[in-house]
Amino acid sequence: MDYTITLQPSGHAYACPPGTPVLKAGLDNGLFMPYSCRSGICRTCRATIVEGRVDYGDVHPSCLDEDDKRQGYALLCKATPLTDLVVQVNELDPSDAIRSKYMPARVLKMERAADDVMIVTLGLPMNEPTLFRAGQYLDILLQDGTRRSYSIASVPDNEGVRQVELHMRHLPGGRFTDHVFGAMKLREIHKLEIPLGSFFLREQSDKPMIMLASGTGFAPIKSLIEHALARGIRRPITLYWGGRKRTDLYLHDLAQSWADRHGHVRFVPVLSEPTPACAWTGRTGYVHLAAMEDFPDMSGHQVYACGAPVVVDAARRDYVARCGLPEDEFFADAFLTAADKR
Ligand SMILES: Cc1cc2nc3c(=O)[nH]c(=O)nc-3n(C[C@H](O)[C@H](O)[C@H](O)COP(=O)(O)OP(=O)(O)OC[C@H]3O[C@@H](n4cnc5c(N)ncnc54)[C@H](O)[C@@H]3O)c2cc1C
Ligand code: FES
Repeated sequence: MDYTITLQPSGHAYACPPGTPVLKAGLDNGLFMPYSCRSGICRTCRATIVEGRVDYGDVHPSCLDEDDKRQGYALLCKATPLTDLVVQVNELDPSDAIRSKYMPARVLKMERAADDVMIVTLGLPMNEPTLFRAGQYLDILLQDGTRRSYSIASVPDNEGVRQVELHMRHLPGGRFTDHVFGAMKLREIHKLEIPLGSFFLREQSDKPMIMLASGTGFAPIKSLIEHALARGIRRPITLYWGGRKRTDLYLHDLAQSWADRHGHVRFVPVLSEPTPACAWTGRTGYVHLAAMEDFPDMSGHQVYACGAPVVVDAARRDYVARCGLPEDEFFADAFLTAADKR
């Protein structure tokens, strides 16, 4: 028999089959709760169990410890109900939700943007244009049953799209990216689930935005900024893009062109390990610290951060604790890999 999950403060209620994560059943029922990794690591889906009992699932204590459990917290992507539940969660507007679909996709284009970055364009089914929100990601389903997530770098369209652009960094020894940088051929077919995640532009806000990208974390930020520009959104945007070397900023000139053409967009590239070959005269150091130097008070801002988990985690921690950023104004996708998930 299904359990009933009631969300607070909205009062939305839905049925959750035994053994099904609370998050999954909610999404399947057309509701929208914050999530990113769906692996019990990023903590984006953390919520409070107000009434009832859950099986917390296979979650590492560094992501949810005994103290968290005592305080009522659970990670909804892993927690399954043992009774009916009342859950307090920062629910998103269900009208922002787009139900994910499974579909085949064909590799249309592969462009080497740097030694270790491939920009891959996938063709989606022509008969049913695909909807997503700027900033969301998709999953590529591998034959061994595992998945790899990639943020969508291209912009959505109200009528749906027939192509998406992805930016993939090569992780040597990585099952999928070894294939992308080795044997992948044009026209080969992959199976996708799209769209996923709650990282998207909060268009109802008028707050200025700090955008923080590390490496290929630039992909969803590109989608957010190009979407905002296309929609005529004039909220100030300051984009920090960090890499170790100049070549890590593989679309530097595109980002600079946004700033050159739009007075409300500022671009701050930051390198942590420039070499003489970079001929770098710009900012140096850690990218999340550069934003803190410029914005010691973030209390009136929204932050959108993407890329290396270490950068996203540091930004979340420091911006909230030291710069006064409200916790619910920090939006992020950390690019966790299979190694992080073990
Ligand atoms: C929400 C989200 C969005 C993402 N978006 C992007 C994106 O836009 N662009 C992007 O480039 N990436 C993105 N990622 C990361 C991406 O999903 C993949 O994890 C990444 O591409 C690596 O996949 P892989 O199969 O090549 O490597 P994997 O096989 O997953 O291996 C990853 C690395 O770990 C090492 N490794 C594997 N197993 C072990 C082990 N047991 N112990 C130690 N090391 C091990 C491998 O050698 C390799 O270096 C995203 C991740 C998430 C969660
Ligand atoms: S921990 Fe649940 S979505 Fe990442």
